[in-house]
Amino acid sequence: MKTMNAQQIRQAYLDFFVQKQHLVLPRALLVPQDDPTTLFTGSGMQPLLPYLLGQEHPLGSRLVDSQTCIRAQDIEEVGDNRHTTFFEMLGNWSLGDYFKQEQIQWLWEFLTTIVGLDPQRIYVSCYLGNKSLNIPKDIQSAAIWADIFKKSAIDPVEIDLDTPELGGQLGDQHGRIFFYSDKNWWSRSGSASNMPDGEPGGPDTELFYLFPQVKHDIKYGKYCHVNCDCGRYIELGNCVFMEYLKTAKGFSKLPKRNVDYGGGLERIAAAALDDPDVFKISLMWPIVNILEQISGRRYASQTNSMRVITDHLRAATFLAIDGVIPSNKEQGYVMRRLIRRAIRYAFDLGIEQNFIGEVVSIIADIYHQDFPEVAKNRDKIIEILVREEKIFRQTLRKGLKQMDKLSSQGNLTGEAIFTLYDTYGFPVELSSEEAFKRGLELDSNWREVFNSKMANQRKLSQTAAKGTFKGGLGGHSDIHKKYHTATHLLYKALRDTLGDMVVQHGSNITEERLRFDFSYPHKLTNEQIKEVEDIVNKQISRDLVVSWSEYPTEKALKQMGALGAFGDRYGDKVKVYSMTPKNAKKPYSLEVCGGPHVEHTNQLAEGNKRFHIIKEESSSAGIRRIRAVLK
Ligand code: ALA
Repeated sequence: MKTMNAQQIRQAYLDFFVQKQHLVLPRALLVPQDDPTTLFTGSGMQPLLPYLLGQEHPLGSRLVDSQTCIRAQDIEEVGDNRHTTFFEMLGNWSLGDYFKQEQIQWLWEFLTTIVGLDPQRIYVSCYLGNKSLNIPKDIQSAAIWADIFKKSAIDPVEIDLDTPELGGQLGDQHGRIFFYSDKNWWSRSGSASNMPDGEPGGPDTELFYLFPQVKHDIKYGKYCHVNCDCGRYIELGNCVFMEYLKTAKGFSKLPKRNVDYGGGLERIAAAALDDPDVFKISLMWPIVNILEQISGRRYASQTNSMRVITDHLRAATFLAIDGVIPSNKEQGYVMRRLIRRAIRYAFDLGIEQNFIGEVVSIIADIYHQDFPEVAKNRDKIIEILVREEKIFRQTLRKGLKQMDKLSSQGNLTGEAIFTLYDTYGFPVELSSEEAFKRGLELDSNWREVFNSKMANQRKLSQTAAKGTFKGGLGGHSDIHKKYHTATHLLYKALRDTLGDMVVQHGSNITEERLRFDFSYPHKLTNEQIKEVEDIVNKQISRDLVVSWSEYPTEKALKQMGALGAFGDRYGDKVKVYSMTPKNAKKPYSLEVCGGPHVEHTNQLAEGNKRFHIIKEESSSAGIRRIRAVLK
């Protein structure tokens, strides 16, 4: 069998699932369009969240794609044989269609008969269960795997390892199917006990490939096991059986049982090559080659630096393709950091001249056939990265000199780090890496000092932004404000009554009524409508105090649990409106919103008015629409 390269594997995977009645989704952009809580698309399921929660997908219940992903949190790990910040995730989904049997069988078939991997070297892990959360051990997946292994004359020995630590102590014990607890639960926020309300997740089964040519390193534990970090076993894919929803009371079942499969294209390609180094595959090796040419050094002796540069420039190139430009905030900041790190590592190879244009041109060559957007924007992409390189080189030299001066005292203060950042464009991480290289200590309070300087600076530059907020309101008349406040109460009352699946999808206010769209899979009963009305009227008569403050977006949405609207995009900071009973601390409603609102909720009852829902109907698949009046 001829070895497939990464491009061929990608195509074969899409074809394989198209044959199984899947429709191909185009990749989503690296910058999520519908999710203000995260900077990057980090998995194939992210853009599909509403459909995994129960909404009908316009393309049906079987989907397949190859999703470009960025996991910026892995930036420090780049340098080993398999971690990259940018990768392609091969994904297939069943939205309430097939489940464990088909998924596991198909994955096995694709990897062993299409890609040609050696069945003897495939190992798997399954979910051990969690008694306190009342979620059972995934014996179904294990039984499916056991059958498959037996057909290949492989003994399906099952071993409970629970945690990777225990795995390190006990080793793989000639097992084939390993049970772990948290390791085999997948949600966007990790293990089952870490999930915020409203988050879907489920047990998963992961597939690993053994590279016997890699020797176990006892630095990672006494013995090797599939989840050991030594790199002898490499995870190729993960089938998540997404059937649970975290709620305030624990776990409930999602309206449908889903499959969310994600496989690392680069890693599967490395397995096909029988080389545990993902940088050797067809999507990356030409980049390493050009670095060898430019620097005159060999990959074998400069492995770490060349891996970092290869990964970072690939990631930065794709960010440019998806419309990001280097800046000092959010995605632009990560992009800047990637480019600047690549340049710093190039110094280690002796590359002090401009080199990014040449490398990005090779990256564009690698992808232009399969990604028309690369072919189309090639010149623009190169220009963006080359411009950033120029800017950085100018400041870099000055900054390094400045750093020598600032640090002659043997330590680096928060103030100095701020100056390096503000004047010389040094990302904080770069300053701390430089400090580390020079053996300088960072002051223990450097972060506080740095943060307060940043806050000051932000205040100064913020005057113009004041008072420019606009809500989704047609006008600011008194009745508009009242309906707007009523909309917040309605949103919260719907969640009180129907649960966390309710997420705002739209709102519209006129002088006559409010209209509110939200996710929920069923028609509301008369009882539910009555309950929602009663809650809103009760909150109106409690005369809640309405006020607002600004918070960092992450904090507002994640820590404080402020409600937001699906599809809305927020900046660094958001205005959060709270509606709180007098003399109480805990607000009844907390929502990201531009305002304006009334000052206290009893104003809605002026003229003896009450809140009435006059219509409840379907707006689109999985979305309900309510019209309500104050009368
Ligand atoms: N969503 C799963 C993952 O990212 C497949 O691993």
